Amino acid sequence: MPAGVPVVSAVLPPTLGSMPTILILNGPNLNLLGTREPEVYGADTLDDIVGELRTLAAERGYEIDAVQSNVEGELVDALHAARSNAAGVVFNPGAYTHTSIALRDAISAIELPVVETHLSNVHAREEFRHTSMLTAVCLGVVGGFGRTSYRLALDALISHLDGRSVSGTG
Ligand code: DQA
Repeated sequence: MPAGVPVVSAVLPPTLGSMPTILILNGPNLNLLGTREPEVYGADTLDDIVGELRTLAAERGYEIDAVQSNVEGELVDALHAARSNAAGVVFNPGAYTHTSIALRDAISAIELPVVETHLSNVHAREEFRHTSMLTAVCLGVVGGFGRTSYRLALDALISHLDGRSVSGTG
């Protein structure tokens, strides 16, 4: 390196960037959106959905980090990382919603607002989908509105983070 050239570290954690970050976290099989049972989950891809959320979040002063994994432990790791990287999480846990005590414990541990989000109305489907291991430790739950569920979840989370939540507990 030539003498006199200053050494500058440009790597800053996302929370130190100009806008606070919201993690959009998606669990198993949601990478297949667009082709997976479109009559249940719609024709939009996950990229379509995340792209729209990025635009909406930016309008309200937030940036989006998006992670999808089919592996339960990787979702746990993403939640742990959110503790230092994100202000809150919009989380569609897919089928792990109905089974995962590990994800429930991770949500409890990180003490961040997490909005459980589903494309489909899980209560109108098979009985095994009627139970969520996670709702009790989440800020709230949105489901049944297709990709609009994600928009509603993001809106509710940002309102909560901005201190404009109208619910008694939010
Ligand atoms: C889902 C509902 C879950 O029951 C299912 O296992 C999914 C998607 C939804 O977005 O509607 O994978 O979370």
